[in-house]
Amino acid sequence: MSQTISIRTAPLGEVHATTTFIYAAEDAAPAGAGASVWAATGLAWQETSAAASFKGKQGQALEILGAGGKRVVVLGTGKPADTPLNGWTDRGGSLLAKVAATRANKVAVIIDEAGASPAAVAELAAGLRLRHYRFDKYKSARSDDAPGALDVTLHVADPAAVDRAIADRGATVDGTLLARDLINEPANVLGPVEFAARAAELAKLGVEVEILEPEALEKLGMRSLLCVAQGSDRPARVVVMQWNGGRAGEAPLAFVGKGVVFDTGGISIKPAASMEDMKGDMGGAAAVTGLMLGLATRKAAVNVVGVIGLVENMPSGKSVRPGDIVKAMSGTTIEVINTDAEGRLVLADALWYTQDRFKPRFMINLATLTGAIVVALGHEHAGLFSNNDELATRLLGAGLSANEKLWRMPLAPAYDKLIESKFADIRNSVGRPAGSITAAQFLQRFVNDVPWAHLDIAGTAFGAGNNEVNTSWAPGFGVALLDRLVRDHYEQ
Ligand code: BES
Ligand code: MN
Ligand code: ZN
Repeated sequence: MSQTISIRTAPLGEVHATTTFIYAAEDAAPAGAGASVWAATGLAWQETSAAASFKGKQGQALEILGAGGKRVVVLGTGKPADTPLNGWTDRGGSLLAKVAATRANKVAVIIDEAGASPAAVAELAAGLRLRHYRFDKYKSARSDDAPGALDVTLHVADPAAVDRAIADRGATVDGTLLARDLINEPANVLGPVEFAARAAELAKLGVEVEILEPEALEKLGMRSLLCVAQGSDRPARVVVMQWNGGRAGEAPLAFVGKGVVFDTGGISIKPAASMEDMKGDMGGAAAVTGLMLGLATRKAAVNVVGVIGLVENMPSGKSVRPGDIVKAMSGTTIEVINTDAEGRLVLADALWYTQDRFKPRFMINLATLTGAIVVALGHEHAGLFSNNDELATRLLGAGLSANEKLWRMPLAPAYDKLIESKFADIRNSVGRPAGSITAAQFLQRFVNDVPWAHLDIAGTAFGAGNNEVNTSWAPGFGVALLDRLVRDHYEQ
C-alpha cells in the first residue's frame, strides 16, 4: 500500500529531527544558514574536514554525522539567480530520493540562505509529493525501494506565506496525482462508467458535473463517438465538468479529453506486443479531470469547462467495421477506414459539442492520438497543433515553465486534402506519411474556427521513463502545463 507524506512548515531556529537537510547557496556560509543545527549535532561547521571543499554549487552535497545518530546533509543550490522555479520542483524530487535513501521517516529541511521565495519552496514541496507517489495498490507487499511514510518539516523565514504557496501549488499536484491514478488503473477496474463516477466526485469541490449516457448522446447525434463504443459491452459516457470561478457570463475556457479506457484497435485489432499499455489511452481525459480538480481546489478565478469522451474500443459482433460510414454530430460523414483510428472519432463529437454548447474562448484537446507522434518526438515533447498563433505561443511557454514540453507541428490545406474520402466527406485513416498531422487535420474539421489547440500526448502520457519528479508509469502529463497556462494568462 502507498505510504503517506506529510509536509508542514516551521520557523527557522528550532529543529527537532535526527536528520536535517540544509540548502545552501554558492559561497553563502552554511554555518549561518543552520546555526541551530550545528549546535544540535554538536558539530561546528569549521570542524568538519570536508567543509573546506564545499562551495554550495548546484548538486554538491556534504553529509555530516554527529553525536547520537544525528545526520546533517548540506545541499548546494548554486547562485540564487540561476535556479528557475521548476528547478526547485526537481530539487524537491531529488530531495525525496535522498530522504528515502536515509530511511528516516521524520526529517527537517532548512531553507534560508538559498534565496528561495515562497513560490520556490512550494515547488520543492510539490517535487517531494510528486516523487513520493507510487501506484502500488495491487502489490501485496511494499517493495524495498519504495519510500515509507514520511514527515517533512520545512523551516523557512515566513511559514505563513509558504503555507499559502504550498496550498495553492498543492492543488495542482493533487490534480497531477489524480491523473496518474486514473491512467495507472487497469481497464477491468476503470471502464467508462467507473471513470465517470470518479469525475462525479469533483462535485464535492463545487464543480458542476453532468454525465451523458448513450441515449442522450444518440439524441445529440454523436454517431462518431458512439460507433467506437458499440463493440464493447460497456456503454459510453460523456462527462461535462464546469468550474465557474470567474465572472458570471464570461465565456469559459474549454478542455476536451480522449478517454478510451482500453484500445484493442477494434476489428483492425492491434498486435499483442505492449497492448497492455492501451489501458492508458484515456490519458487525455485523465489530464482534463486532474486539471479540473486542481482549478476547483485552488478556487481559480476563471470559468472553465472540461469535456471527456469515455469509450472502450473492442472487437465483437457489434463492432464498427472498416468501410462503415457514420454521421458525426456536426453533420460531417466519416468513412471508418481503420477502427484503430478511434480517438479522432471520439474527439470529433466531443469537440463539436463543446464549441456548439459553450462558445468557449478557446478549446484545447488532449489525446494519446497517434503512434506517429512518438516516432517524431519520442517521449520528450508532446505534439502541439493549433489554428491560433497566440494560443500556441502561450502553450509553448507554459510547457517550458511546467517542464511538460511541447513542440509545434504544422497544419496546412495540403494535409487536409489527404483526409478526403471516396464515399463520405472524410475518412478516419490515411497512409503512414504525416500520421499525426492528418489526425490533427481530422480534428480541425470539428472545431468550427474556435481558437483551438490539439496536444498529441501519445509519447508523454505514459511510459516516458523516470525523471526527478516521477517514477510512475504515468507522469500525469498536461495537468501542470495547463494549470500554468490558465494562471499566467486567463485568471483575473
Ligand atoms: N491509442 C492509439 C495511439 C497510441 C499508440 C497511443 C501508442 C499511445 C501509444 C491510437 O488510437 C491509434 O491506434 N492510432 C493509430 C492510428 C492509425 C490506425 C491511423 C496509430 O497510431 O497507429
Ligand atoms: Mn487506436
Ligand atoms: Zn487509441
